[in-house]
Amino acid sequence: MMEQRASILIVDDVVANLSLLNALIKNIGVDLIMALSGAEALEKTEGVDLALAIIDVQMPRMNGYELAVKLNESRKDEKVPVIFITANHLDETSVAKGYQCGAVDYIFKPVNRLILLSKVDVFLDIFKQKQTIKNNAMLLKEAADKLVRTNKRLQRKDEKILQEQLFTKALLHSIPGIFYLYTIPELKLVMWNKQHETLFGYEPDEMKGRHVLTWHLPERWNAVMESIKDIITEDYAGIETNLVKKDGNTIPFILTGVKFERNGRNYLVGIGTDITERKRVENELNESLDQLKLLSRHIEQVREDERVAISRDLHDDLGQALTAVKIDLGIIKQKISDTDVILKIEKVTALVGNTIKTVQRLTSQLRPEIIDDLGLEIAIEWFTGEFAERNNVEVVLNLDPDIIVSSDNSLILFRIMQESLTNIARHAKATTVNISLLKIDETIHFRISDNGIGISESDKKSKKSFGLIGMKERAASMGGICEITSVDNVGTVVELILPSNLI
Ligand SMILES: Nc1ncnc2c1ncn2[C@@H]1O[C@H](COP(=O)(O)OP(=O)(O)OP(=O)(O)O)[C@@H](O)[C@H]1O
Ligand SMILES: [Mg+2]
Repeated sequence: MMEQRASILIVDDVVANLSLLNALIKNIGVDLIMALSGAEALEKTEGVDLALAIIDVQMPRMNGYELAVKLNESRKDEKVPVIFITANHLDETSVAKGYQCGAVDYIFKPVNRLILLSKVDVFLDIFKQKQTIKNNAMLLKEAADKLVRTNKRLQRKDEKILQEQLFTKALLHSIPGIFYLYTIPELKLVMWNKQHETLFGYEPDEMKGRHVLTWHLPERWNAVMESIKDIITEDYAGIETNLVKKDGNTIPFILTGVKFERNGRNYLVGIGTDITERKRVENELNESLDQLKLLSRHIEQVREDERVAISRDLHDDLGQALTAVKIDLGIIKQKISDTDVILKIEKVTALVGNTIKTVQRLTSQLRPEIIDDLGLEIAIEWFTGEFAERNNVEVVLNLDPDIIVSSDNSLILFRIMQESLTNIARHAKATTVNISLLKIDETIHFRISDNGIGISESDKKSKKSFGLIGMKERAASMGGICEITSVDNVGTVVELILPSNLI
């Protein structure tokens, strides 16, 4: 704070006296305000902080006492000390009157310079002390204000922190899974939610400081540490694993973790989701899928048995009966001489011959024994050869001879091809069909593609497309999948994909 220069008021109605006082006091580092009357003095000192007033008592109009009273009227808190100057020795009542108007001292004329200066000195000292006190008080007030403001800020901050803590706590306890916070690199538990405690059957003091691996089965320790390493290097990781409860039972969990830094320390923070229910549903689903596969294999077997039976009936009953008819027609023909009738008999004989061929074809389609006798490749060549001829479609084969297909699976592949080719003949309007059996990496791909009109989206999705559904079921029954893709006016691809160990 700036040091304020002291001001001293000097009032005397006699110019010579005023000059004398001025000469006596000048050069002591203060501002002197000179006035020849009370009125002039009041006017010149309005609003000025005076260290001292030196006033002549005997003055016309407003004497020294009156001036002293007026001077201090407007200065309630800080009275100006006054030294009265008087020529006469005053009686005691006069002196008392002076003191009442705030006067503090008297000096008698002729003024002694030393006395005057030492008195002025005393008052200047007091003034300076007063100023120091004022300055200090101001500084003190500023410091106190600052303290109050800081306090308020701290209070608000405290409240905010408290609210944040409450919010965090509520959040952690309301999540459906478990929450955990571990130190890195010690991997000791430092924070967790209530669910973590209750689900695993521990008391809070048993939880604190637990090492992360104590929740895991020893055979999973490596995997757990690997994913913790991922968290440390890549900031995030997740793992699906079983966690061990206090009673030794395990619960399947999906655990996630991220790394974060606070006050120069690293932590691993994450949540775990109990997937018991999901696992149960997953297992049930897998079981019913297995059952479904068994069922479709069984149905397939029943269908094949049925075909074998029909084929046997066709062959044994119809085939043999037709052959007998043909033989009998030959005998009848020999016994007849009418050429018209002979011509008729020859026509019927030819018709019966064709019908026998049809029965043979149907028989072998129903029961492709050729697969068992000569293998899948030959069976495909035979069937596609006939198909190409009958439907006027080019069939290109690309069958890897190194792929050995078991006899059960050969029949399934054959049936898928049979259904595909029947569809192509009936719906595709194709000119070329490609059939390939190839091994790509560890999977077998059996592919029938045509360059026809393609299958409409609705047909592909329809629950009534039993032919398409049947192909998928057949593929599933051998542990593979059948993908049917098609593009309008480009063609259709039916592809059976299965692991090579299942072929
Ligand atoms: N290769 C193909 N090209 C064009 N359309 C096809 C092809 N294959 C199937 N489709 C279409 O998909 C539909 C469903 O085929 P899906 O084999 O399931 O039945 P379907 O052949 O009509 O009768 P079926 O039950 O006797 O096999 C067919 O009706 C046909 O419209
Ligand atoms: Mg069909």
